Amino acid sequence: MDTKLLDDWIKNIKVKNIENEDVEVVNKSPLVMIGKGRQGAVFQIDNDTCVKVFGNSEDCDRENYALSLGQRTDLFPKIHAKGSNYIVMDLIKGIDVREYLQSQPLTEALSEKLVKMLITFKEIGFQRIDHHKRQIFIQEDGSLKVIDVSRTVWRDRVYPYPRKLMTSLGEKNKALFLSHVQELAPELYDEWIHYIRMEEISRQITQSFIAQKPQKNSLQNLSSGLLTTNDEKQYVILLEGLSHKVFKEEWIKAMLARGYDIDSVMKKIDEHWDNYEQSFNENKTSVSDDSGGYEYEIVTQKQRKPLIYNEENATVYWHDDSKNNSKEERKSKKKRKKEETNVYEYIPYKRPTRIQEIKWN
Ligand SMILES: Nc1ncnc2c1ncn2[C@@H]1O[C@H](COP(=O)(O)OP(=O)(O)OP(=O)(O)O)[C@@H](O)[C@H]1O
Ligand SMILES: [Mg+2]
Repeated sequence: MDTKLLDDWIKNIKVKNIENEDVEVVNKSPLVMIGKGRQGAVFQIDNDTCVKVFGNSEDCDRENYALSLGQRTDLFPKIHAKGSNYIVMDLIKGIDVREYLQSQPLTEALSEKLVKMLITFKEIGFQRIDHHKRQIFIQEDGSLKVIDVSRTVWRDRVYPYPRKLMTSLGEKNKALFLSHVQELAPELYDEWIHYIRMEEISRQITQSFIAQKPQKNSLQNLSSGLLTTNDEKQYVILLEGLSHKVFKEEWIKAMLARGYDIDSVMKKIDEHWDNYEQSFNENKTSVSDDSGGYEYEIVTQKQRKPLIYNEENATVYWHDDSKNNSKEERKSKKKRKKEETNVYEYIPYKRPTRIQEIKWN
């Protein structure tokens, strides 16, 4: 291929993408356009080759990649050259399946070829195992050739059955095709029917969701049942649980990145956390001893201040929770009163049981 000549032709062809429409083409080259779509325009070079000029280089790279996956099969045009916005490839002859079915019946033999085509798609690594009938060409010898393959790769959400192919066949031929598949590959047929049913159910559910209007006000009132930040005690527990989760997740990430075994890492983290809690519980005992052995609950201020406070930023008052106090605790009430103005340094531990009132300075 004379690449200099080719470059000159391509320079004289301008292809522009238009949203939801076929590309716009300004062709000042001697090449004749044989077709166009949303991604590009195709020009015949000679009896055996054509060039597809794309509106953008990403589509060009994607189609080139998809075609390259199939170069060892007989299903796709061979690639002859590739530029940033064009691919020179075999000119595909024959008749496309759409035209063919306008005058001919869908035979079991053709259905079998179509299923074999899908099997090849899967084998070579296409993500979408599907294609529109107008992009599948029947050759003189009865074999198939496929064009316009860019949308089969670099995608993460695809239908798990050949939806596009079947829809493009129309109701009558879709039913015929499925009856052929049922006959030739019953397991595959069962799977496709399963997916078709699941799709139908999803559609019905979505429609009923769309029809339902949510009652905004009723949820506004009910949602208070899920709120947690107003209850200070609960809030402390939840916040602590949250940091525990983050701590664990981050450690697992870091350790996995270093190649450690996940189970042993989890075990170590749990052990570490248990020791951590243990040490807080020990702290708790010593503070408790200072205050005469009472069990206290933490009552923080409504404003969410940091839960680490000390003489500089807060004064801690013991809370009088006589309802829950044991006999011994009640006996020592007087002693406690004396200590009411004591100031303690507090670091939160898992399940706080002390009662404190904290006045922030
Ligand atoms: N290799 C080829 N040989 C012969 N004709 C081709 C070839 N490639 C494309 N064509 C013709 O050019 C037309 C447009 O090509 P193609 O479908 O690849 O464009 P596209 O912009 O990618 O389309 P779409 O909008 O469906 O993505 C085809 O319908 C076909 O008629
Ligand atoms: Mg395309």
